[in-house]
Amino acid sequence: MNDVLWFNGRFTTTDERVLRVEDRGFLFGDAIYEVFKFVDKHPVFLRDHFKRLANGLKAIEIRNPWDEESFVATMNEILERTEFDDGIVYIEVTRGEGERAHFYPENLTPTAIAFSRRFNFPDGAKKERGVRLISTADLRWKHCDVKSVNLLANALAKKEAQRKGGDEVLLIHYSGRGDIVRECGSSSFFIVKNGVVITHPLDCHILPGVTRDHVIARAERVEERLIDVSELDDADEIFITSTTLGVMPVNQVDDRAKRARGPITTDLQRKLEEAELSRSPK
Ligand code: PDD
Repeated sequence: MNDVLWFNGRFTTTDERVLRVEDRGFLFGDAIYEVFKFVDKHPVFLRDHFKRLANGLKAIEIRNPWDEESFVATMNEILERTEFDDGIVYIEVTRGEGERAHFYPENLTPTAIAFSRRFNFPDGAKKERGVRLISTADLRWKHCDVKSVNLLANALAKKEAQRKGGDEVLLIHYSGRGDIVRECGSSSFFIVKNGVVITHPLDCHILPGVTRDHVIARAERVEERLIDVSELDDADEIFITSTTLGVMPVNQVDDRAKRARGPITTDLQRKLEEAELSRSPK
């Protein structure tokens, strides 16, 4: 069975080769993407994902093929046509096709795709056991707040972490004035100290995670501030968040072993799962 693919307004399956070689998404990474999760065919935090997509497209001056309502309608139609109930939808909008040139014409028609895919979300045992992080230098560009498809630095860093036995990479900004923890290769990063949930502030160095927002809204005490690497030694709890992981405890960062899942992480896991399942209007 093939996944449902929406391509520039028509439905097909991911078996069809739809892209031209001179699509700027392929040649220049000139594109924005989004990933949302669905459970029982119900999209989770769909409008938040639309808002971030719209912001990203605006930031790099690509015309948005959807307004919020047509986006919601398209995504729900993809889910209706999809043969399974739980999974993710990957969305990408590129600047469009044109003869390869760094100077892009202003009038290109964007290429837009969205496809559903099965996904193995972490089970109860995994959510209790947690993951191991391996740290490395953050070599990404200075617009990490824009969800561009240029994920080479993330992919290389994640692979390095995997080779060292990690589940995810922790990206660090090393500087003479202290070593700052940014976020992970494909997830947001949090520590808990004395009952306070602490995470990097929103700026150009991290992605404004949809899950991050929902977790912050449900935490009792939150500080959005820079975290120095030395703070990892005495953090009471550490967790990461993303659309696909939810709230995931961290049981080790490099050689620092941590308690597997602390009480605040457990509480936020439960609250996020409740929020994901609440049937907000489509
Ligand atoms: N990744 N930070 C980075 C660098 C990410 O790539 C992601 C998401 C997040 C978490 O964002 P959210 O809570 O909105 O999923 C943080 C997605 C899932 C991906 O690239 O597949």
